[in-house]
Amino acid sequence: MSLEYKMKASLKLFVILAGILICQSALSQEDQLGLKEIFKDAFYIGSAVSYRQASGEEQQALPLLEKHFNSITSENMMKWGPIHPEPERYNFVSADQFVELGKNLNAFIIGHTLVWHQQTPKWVFQNEEGEILKRETLLKRMEQHIETIVGRYKGQVHGWDVVNEVFEHDGSYRESEWYQITGRDYIFKAFQKAYEMDPEAELYYNDYNLWKPEKREAAIALAQELRDKGMRVDGIGMQGHYMLDSPPVEMIEASIIAISNAGFKVMVTELDVDVLPRPRESEGADLNRNYDLDEKYNPYATGLPENIADKFAKRYTDLFSVFHKHQDKISRITFWGLQDGTSWLNNWPVRGRTNYPLLFDRDFQVKEEVIQSISTATF
Ligand code: GLA
Repeated sequence: MSLEYKMKASLKLFVILAGILICQSALSQEDQLGLKEIFKDAFYIGSAVSYRQASGEEQQALPLLEKHFNSITSENMMKWGPIHPEPERYNFVSADQFVELGKNLNAFIIGHTLVWHQQTPKWVFQNEEGEILKRETLLKRMEQHIETIVGRYKGQVHGWDVVNEVFEHDGSYRESEWYQITGRDYIFKAFQKAYEMDPEAELYYNDYNLWKPEKREAAIALAQELRDKGMRVDGIGMQGHYMLDSPPVEMIEASIIAISNAGFKVMVTELDVDVLPRPRESEGADLNRNYDLDEKYNPYATGLPENIADKFAKRYTDLFSVFHKHQDKISRITFWGLQDGTSWLNNWPVRGRTNYPLLFDRDFQVKEEVIQSISTATF
């Protein structure tokens, strides 16, 4: 065998081996793609962030947030109660940490939420004597709240859920204290003030069960009315608290199309999939409904059976297929939490359950098969 032949043969072998190695590393990188990479051409992928994540205490969260998410939403720390617990007292510690985290992650930062009927202290609606406030006084109080919060995070928070959940399931206005005292004025003033304080920030209306036609139509009509009055409304957030079997993806899809046709960005703002059976009347996310633990509603306390895990993966895949199909209309998909152990769905609508609604398990392990299955939505 000539030297030249030997050299050619080893070169060939080298090229083949290098090829195999390159393919393997491409494959393993492919395996490890973060969600934000998989959907980078479609929409932001967000996560709601908890106190312990914002402060860095929950250390295992950070690498997952870094790898998979390019948007974050404050789960609780910017709600009225936590951030403005007493008339003259604001508490910005956690909200500041949240915004700092968002900057470090280079994420699209969402402030949630300026005005809501839940997690809002009683004093907000009362004077010092405990009497219900007059319309003007309440509106002023709300405007000062918005001035302080949006003003503080001007140029740092990129989008605000200005008003949350003003509608009942049939599209009528919720008889909240806000509504009883001011009618619909609080909604208009809230959007106006948020815009004044940060004209660059995106402003959204956010609600659950917007797959229901009557509720979705009410949200669209409100957003249009706000726009007609010259206010900024960028999008409508569909909360996305779904169950394994309902609502049908076709109904979700119809709402995505309707909201977009009306000229608003669509966001799925609070995505999770509840795998547990529910008391009949607790659809959506009405926090007023809560039940004591009853074992028949907590069937997977020691682990999720394979057939349910398969259904779960399929449900997320079906949802993401619809989301991906409408990527021109959808700007962001945000999961309502990072890992199963701290999801609100362990305590709602029944307290103390073991639920599995998210893409990371209680040990912060990614549900690889679900992510792989979801990524097929991009093909
Ligand atoms: C609603 C709110 C969220 C959260 C969930 C349940 O969807 O918008 O902030 O409170 O309820 O936790």
